[in-house]
Amino acid sequence: MEPFKIKVVETIPQTSRRERRQILEEAGYNLFAIPADRVTIDLLTDSGTAAMSDRQWAGIMLGDESYAGSKNYYHFEETVREIFGYKYVIPTHQGRVAENLLFSVLVKKGTAVPNNIHFDTTRANVEFNDGLALDCVIDAGLDPNADLPFKGNMDLKKLEGVIRQTGASNIPLCLMTITNNSGGGQPVSMENIRKTRKLLDQYGIPLYFDACRFAENSFFIKERETDYRERSILSIAREIFSYGDGCTMSAKKDGLVNMGGFLCTNDRELSQSITNLLILHEGFPTYGGLAGRDLEAMAVGLREVLDENYLSFRIRQVQSLGDMLHKRGVPILRPTGGHAIYVNAGAFLPHIPREAFPAQALACAFYEEGGVRGVEIGSLMFGGNDKTTGEAKHPELEMVRLAVPRRVYTTRHMQYVAETIAAVYERRESIQGLEIVYEAPVLRHFTARLRPLEEQNAKVRN
Ligand code: F0G
Repeated sequence: MEPFKIKVVETIPQTSRRERRQILEEAGYNLFAIPADRVTIDLLTDSGTAAMSDRQWAGIMLGDESYAGSKNYYHFEETVREIFGYKYVIPTHQGRVAENLLFSVLVKKGTAVPNNIHFDTTRANVEFNDGLALDCVIDAGLDPNADLPFKGNMDLKKLEGVIRQTGASNIPLCLMTITNNSGGGQPVSMENIRKTRKLLDQYGIPLYFDACRFAENSFFIKERETDYRERSILSIAREIFSYGDGCTMSAKKDGLVNMGGFLCTNDRELSQSITNLLILHEGFPTYGGLAGRDLEAMAVGLREVLDENYLSFRIRQVQSLGDMLHKRGVPILRPTGGHAIYVNAGAFLPHIPREAFPAQALACAFYEEGGVRGVEIGSLMFGGNDKTTGEAKHPELEMVRLAVPRRVYTTRHMQYVAETIAAVYERRESIQGLEIVYEAPVLRHFTARLRPLEEQNAKVRN
């Protein structure tokens, strides 16, 4: 059951199917363009959408908004040092700024950054600094049906191949994303982290964690890796980070806050260069783009997220949504990851060719059916024409991600989501593909406008 009582409530918007059809049309079949108060269950992201606890709200009242040396900063720093164990702690307003600061100093033309799989902002920040972002996840991590406990693991052979090919001196750092968001929220094992560290040591390459969902990854290690059953989440997290030289963190996930992030490192010189940039872009080092009260809420959230009762509920809630869908025959990526269900839209809608955006069409169908908003991770987000050949390219998988916000929805809400999706599954053959009417030159999925192909065909027929 939910390991919390509800103290404040927010009314859930209800709309009719007719209204939703009109909303979709007005939004150009792009769920990013739908006002949130027209969404019944919002599973667009688990980022910045958590419900804060009474203790976090109490912490907000203790906000010390001094420009320099806010007491909340010291509390935050002490908390991060205790869990993550790194010497230098630099607050930022969200995760991608931590990435930007780190890569601005370390990455340049001719360098490469390996990762299990780069999240899109991470990849974009490496590439923005003219580096090469390389994914080295194990092959099973890309197979939606491979049922393995740690599908986020780094493939050490691939990693060594990259190091040999690029030359160790051109690899300023190796990243590891825990859990591996772009590969389905799949965890990385402690054994794999240890082995990755050992391999990198042979070449003198630092290891940094993309730590957004570190507590969820720690919980999976406790459940699935022998030797860790009796260990506390805190001690598992500390062991993970002991194998690294630092981390970037979006506290909008496992920090249980609506805004916040940070960067850690053990490298004094690096921390100084980053701090100089921080002052230029984010603010003074004891607030880093955040209010003092936000730092306090983050310090409290980082401790709360380590609670095993909370994590057990969290992981089971996502798992039970996955099980309900699997039982009804809905094709999903298995096993379920920590923060989201990934519906395999290619298998759900085999009659829609990839040029007609099956995953986007499916995401729209979930909204039309029950006001459930997920996010397309497929040809709209990652496809397009190859810059050099001009040929249409598509990503490996067509998926709709249903990300579950932390401490926001109840088990009954998850049942409603499963019922909505099962109803769409029953009528899957009636779903039509889409075509683009407008697209921006970069990151087109955020602002694209589309229309149903059926509409176009009807116009031709008339
Ligand atoms: N790294 C990972 C693995 C992420 O999932 C995200 C954000 C970031 C970095 C960037 O953090 O948003 O605070 O700047 N993921 C969100 C998502 C947006 O929906 O998966 P940010």
